[in-house]
Amino acid sequence: MKTVVVNASKEYAVHIGPGLLSGLGEAAAALTGGETVCIVSDSRVFPLYGAAARRSLEQAGFSVIHYTFPAGESSKNGSVFLELLNHLAENRLTRRDLVVALGGGVTGDLSGFAAACYLRGIRLIQIPTTLLAAVDSSVGGKTAIDLPAGKNLAGAFYQPSLVLCDTDTLATLPPQVFLDGCGEVIKYGILYDPQLFSLLEKTGASFDLEQVIARCVELKRNVVMEDEFDTGARMKLNLGHTIGHGIEAASSFSVSHGMAVAAGIAMITRAAMKRGICPASDGARILDLLTRFGLPIDTKYPAETLYSYALSDKKRSGGTVNLIVPRRIGCCAILPTPVEQVQSWIQEGL
Ligand code: NAD
Ligand code: GLY
Repeated sequence: MKTVVVNASKEYAVHIGPGLLSGLGEAAAALTGGETVCIVSDSRVFPLYGAAARRSLEQAGFSVIHYTFPAGESSKNGSVFLELLNHLAENRLTRRDLVVALGGGVTGDLSGFAAACYLRGIRLIQIPTTLLAAVDSSVGGKTAIDLPAGKNLAGAFYQPSLVLCDTDTLATLPPQVFLDGCGEVIKYGILYDPQLFSLLEKTGASFDLEQVIARCVELKRNVVMEDEFDTGARMKLNLGHTIGHGIEAASSFSVSHGMAVAAGIAMITRAAMKRGICPASDGARILDLLTRFGLPIDTKYPAETLYSYALSDKKRSGGTVNLIVPRRIGCCAILPTPVEQVQSWIQEGL
């Protein structure tokens, strides 16, 4: 097992390794003398891992309730969120009790926002069961639900009290969902870590889960501790997201987040190469690695369509969009770009 400690507005440990789910009860008991735990999970994950989570919590003396919702992004909405809050209230959870988010990023974001709001804050344990959630969404405290006007438009910064990443749970992931997370892993290499990038060039998708997840969590921990509330350095985690968001939205979300971001990374890399910001050799390695993993490096949508969605991105600030642009492998820049210039960046990336 590897452990990374995050010291932001709250200090907490992220444990990564096989078999950790069976230690959930003991870990929860160490956090609180409370009585009740609500496991929040989706309709795919709960049948796989709900019983093991419940057993461990009951063995540690907790009374366990659960709340499940239909798997998928479309559940990350206001009515599911309110239903979850009502479930916590009807079962009279107090501030000494706990919410356990057992699932991918959708479960983590939804449960995290509910934990932040219920009684103005109740302790939360994140148990990420997708690679994306393990390396990104379970760590750092961004929680949210989607609104009809867009993704993640209502949320809170709310750090968990503990993250338990049981790498055994990733064995049941559909290959496509695992691949989504691989895009995020590659992103960390491009942003911060040439050694991680080189390792992935050697291993492809058969990397050591514990080692690579722990490295990504360390990198995320570092940026969260530098800029917890996303006003500076943390924005770099949005590499590939401005164009990726456009691809997701243009496809009415039939292209997954991970695939869209991978294509977004490839396109911003190509534009950076054309502008002489990213050396051709580094750019080619980025495009090759995405391809080797089976991730997309282009899109069928025209620049005007992607541009119109980029303008509605919440990362836009007034007349400026902060583009995250690779300078070389391991180093990216935040380029505040007037909105009217964004379309030419996209065009050059196609
Ligand atoms: P997800 O939670 O919908 O999981 C994807 C699919 O995999 C679902 O069908 C789920 O049921 C299934 N699944 C999950 N774990 C499984 C397992 N172990 N075995 C079998 N099936 C399993 O999606 P995701 O890709 O994990 O997360 C995407 C969400 O994360 C988006 O809503 C995005 O906005 C959010 N996100 C948040 C942050 C953050 O910092 N908070 C960062 C990145 C993404
Ligand atoms: N996933 C982006 C962030 O945590 O800031």
